[in-house]
Order: sequence, then C-alpha cells, then structure tokens
Amino acid sequence: MSRKQDRILRTKLPERLCHWAIVLCFFLAATSGLSWFFPTFSWMSGLLGTPQMARLLHPFLGIAVFAGLCFMFVRFVKYNLPARTDALWFRNVADVILNRHGAPLRIGKYNAGQKVLFWLIMLSIVLLLVSGLIMWRAYFAEFFPIPVLRLAILAHSVAGIGLILLILGHIYLAIWVRGSITGMVTGYVSRAWVRQHHDRWAAELDAQDAEARK
Ligand code: HEM
Repeated sequence: MSRKQDRILRTKLPERLCHWAIVLCFFLAATSGLSWFFPTFSWMSGLLGTPQMARLLHPFLGIAVFAGLCFMFVRFVKYNLPARTDALWFRNVADVILNRHGAPLRIGKYNAGQKVLFWLIMLSIVLLLVSGLIMWRAYFAEFFPIPVLRLAILAHSVAGIGLILLILGHIYLAIWVRGSITGMVTGYVSRAWVRQHHDRWAAELDAQDAEARK
C-alpha cells in the first residue's frame, strides 16, 4: 500500500484512467441511446456529430464500456465480495444516509451499498452487451428470429435505463461523500477520510504499518 505523508493510495493510475475512459464512452453511448428512446432527447444524437454517426458509433462505445468494466471487474472484484460485516452496514443504513456517526460499522475498502452497485453495474453491462449484439443490424440481427429481436430490444432498453439510473445514483453519492471524487482523480484520500468512511480498511492499514515498522 503506497502512502505519501498522510495520504493513502486508494485507486491506482490504470484503474483511474480506465474509470474516466468508461465515463466518457458511457456518456456518449447513453446520450445517443436516450436520443432514440425519448423523442425529447433526440437532439442528444448530435453530440456525436450527426444522428448517422451516433447510430454507427453507439455499439462500439458500448463495447468500449464493456471492455473497461471487464478490467474494473478484475481489479475491484476482491473488494466487492460479500463480507459478514456488510449486514451491519445494511442495518444502519439510515444513520449512514443521515451522516450520523455512531458505533463503527466495520466497513472494508468498499461499503455494502457500493458492493451492491458494483454487481448491478456488472449485471447491467452483460445484459446490454448480449442484447446489443443480438439486435446489431450491421452484423448479427439477421441471424435471429423476430421474437428474439423483440426480447433483445426490450432487455436492452430496460438494462440501459436501469444502468443510467444506477450511474446517476453513483454520481450523486460520489459528490455527497466529500473527498471520493478527488480520490478517483488523484488516486489519494486522506487518512481521516479512510477512518471516517472505511473503518475496517483503516484498521487493516494500521496493522500493515505496525507490521512494516517491526
Ligand atoms: C461523472 C461520472 C462518474 C463519477 C463522478 C464517478 C465517481 C466515482 C468515484 C469517486 C469512485 C470511487 C469511490 C470510492 O473510492 O469509494 C468510483 C468508482 C467506481 N465507478 Fe464511477 N463515477 C462516474 C461514472 C461511472 C460510470 C459511468 C461507471 C460505469 C458504467 C462507473 C463505474 C465505477 C466502478 C465500477 C467503480 C468501483 C466501485 C467499486 O469497486 O465498488 N462510474 N466512481
């Protein structure tokens, strides 16, 4: 675990670069998708130049998001596996939301809510990829019967809207927990931040420090 004075490395450079590349691709894929779904958002397809360009690029942007999330999955899955102490976080979720600090919640590197979000993001992107490939007219759609295409379009729409809502929640929480966006930009968070939001992780880091000093 790399530290600079009192700062703790939370997210490594390749992970940060991948995260922000996903943000860019997701924004463009989501806005072009929304432009076809809701007529009021039709202007959004102009963000990729022309509606034709949006039609062409949308599937490739989606695949880029999927590839980025595969990398994130490999790097982050170990922190997002269920832990016995997650139950404590769920039981005290009202205090977490109201920012009331009581007894330590034994939160590891990511809290139970972040873990749920992580798995929902991964589930949505798999659904989006599979349904998206089936309905991709340029390459694959002709191999599938109409009822399968209809099902794929339905699944794609539900998973797409679902993922956009999840990401809006993710952005809201990232802004709400002060210091976490700085962590995703610079890689570093303060030791006080770790103690406040991830007490079990803080204890693990302290134990590692004590071990290193021996
Ligand atoms: C403006 C948009 C976004 C902002 C401001 C943002 C912010 C953040 C921040 C601050 C973290 C680190 C949280 C922490 O250290 O506790 C994070 C993690 C993460 N973000 Fe985002 N994010 C955005 C968009 C996205 C998008 C579009 C995706 C995927 C489609 C995504 C997927 C993830 C994942 C998988 C993690 C790791 C979380 C975990 O392991 O539990 N983010 N994001």
